[in-house]
Parts: sequence; structure tokens; C-alpha cells
Amino acid sequence: MFMSGIPTKTDVELEAMRKAARLVSATLAAVAPHVRPGVTTGELDRVAEEFIRDHGAVPAFKGYPGRTPYPATLCVSVNEEVVHGIPGDRVLEEGDLASVDCGVIIDGFFGDSAYTFGVGELSEASRELCRATYESLNRAIDKCRVGNRIGDVSAAVQDYCQALGYGVVRDLVGHGIGKELHEPPQVPNVGRKGVGRKLKEGLTICVEPMINQGSAEVETLPDHWTVVASDGQPSAHYEHMIAVLGSGPEVLTSFKEIEEVIEAPYKQAGIEDYG
Ligand code: MF3
Ligand code: CO
Repeated sequence: MFMSGIPTKTDVELEAMRKAARLVSATLAAVAPHVRPGVTTGELDRVAEEFIRDHGAVPAFKGYPGRTPYPATLCVSVNEEVVHGIPGDRVLEEGDLASVDCGVIIDGFFGDSAYTFGVGELSEASRELCRATYESLNRAIDKCRVGNRIGDVSAAVQDYCQALGYGVVRDLVGHGIGKELHEPPQVPNVGRKGVGRKLKEGLTICVEPMINQGSAEVETLPDHWTVVASDGQPSAHYEHMIAVLGSGPEVLTSFKEIEEVIEAPYKQAGIEDYG
């Protein structure tokens, strides 16, 4: 359904979205045990593509239009890479932060989720960056309620992360999702409470804080895709799909299966789970 320019989902469509979300979550969980020192980002990409195709689905990012079509199944963004890192020969090393973003298409609906993994032992600063990024995502999810505005969601991320001194990336945003990977509305990670479009029942959105240890300033590498922090400091990124329902936010994706395989980097920092 298309109301005031923002598409909402019927119950049947929501069921299809849950299926896409479950598959993208399972794919990240299939990748999780491979995220270790010595693995190449290209190897992670092959694991993900095989898993997706084995489940009768198609990688959603491969061929995505840009200056050049996106060439891979995953985005693997290491350390100062914020998002859209192209998998290849890069070898992950102890202490790296590896943000893995995945998209799938199944039965005509898109799933999209991202998780920042710690490679081996992380520094205290990197663990705290993951913890704060994940906490900001949970705070934003709690604002995904009928009648709230996009600015309420955005402000939840911005206010929490900026108070801790982090750089909240402005150049990239979350988005609606459904039969397209990117549907309206945009879901920025900076904004003001009470501002922006009202959230309607049946809206499905991806909330994806991209949080830099240092400055929020980013630039794109000559490969036309990889977005890096201009000051070279590490960055973290978590992304969930959320359905805005009368009963409250339903988080369609899940990190539960990932965290049955690995110890969550933000849990290493000693905070409790937000589900
Ligand atoms: N989660 C990212 C997004 O929503 C991934 C897109 S990668 C692309 O924009 F290749 F598809 F662009
Ligand atoms: Co996304």
C-alpha cells in the first residue's frame, strides 16, 4: 500500500518480509564462524553467496547500480572502512573490526542486515564503539512506533552517540525496504525529535547507525564504493529491519543466531542484551 508517498505492507507482505529477514539473518550467522584472523574478505563473500543460493534466494547487492555495479554479495568494511567495502584478497587480522552487510531477495522481497564483528580480541576502544553503536540502534528501534516521526528515530542515534564523543555519519542513511532494497522514507542517523514524516502502521524500515570513533567526515575510495572515515579511525555499523506495528516495533532480523556462534563484541564490553 502507498500512503502519503510512503509504502506500507499488508499482513501477507509482512509475512514475506519476515522470511527475507530470517534468511539474511541466517546468512550472517553462516558467515560468523569464518570471521577469524587469516580469513580473506573474499572467502566470507563466497560463504554468503553459496548459503543464499542454496536457500533459493539471490544476493541483493550484486549488480546494484552505482558508478559501477556493485560486484559482490557482501559488503565487508574493515576498521576505518565505514560501509560498502568490496570483498577481495584482504586478510583479516587480530583486533580488526569487520562490518559485514548482507542483502537477499527471496520471493520478490528484500532482506538487509549488518553486523560488526570483532576479529579475535578487540581493543577496549573498539569494543566500546561497538557497544555504543548497538545501543544507539536499540534506542532508535524503540522509537519505531506508530505516530512517532522519523526525527525521533534519528535523534535517538545522534543524541546517544554524540554525547559519547563519536562521529555520527550523515552522508549515508537507513531506508524503507520491501519489494525494493531502498524505498522511502530515508532514515538518517541525525535529526531532531518531532521532525519529519510520521511513522504509519505497516511501514518496514532499515535502521543502520554508522558510527565513527573520530570525526563523522567520510570519503569514497577510487573503487567508487568503499566509504572510509577521513581521519582513518575505526567505524562500526549495525543494521536491523523493523516493522512498525500497532503493537510496537517488530525487529524482523535477528542477531541471535550470530551470537550463538560468536561472542558479541558489545557484550565483551559488559552490557546486557536488548533482544
Ligand atoms: N545496507 C546497505 C544499504 O542499505 C548496503 C547496500 S550495498 C549496495 O545501502 F551495493 F547494494 F549498494
Ligand atoms: Co540497508
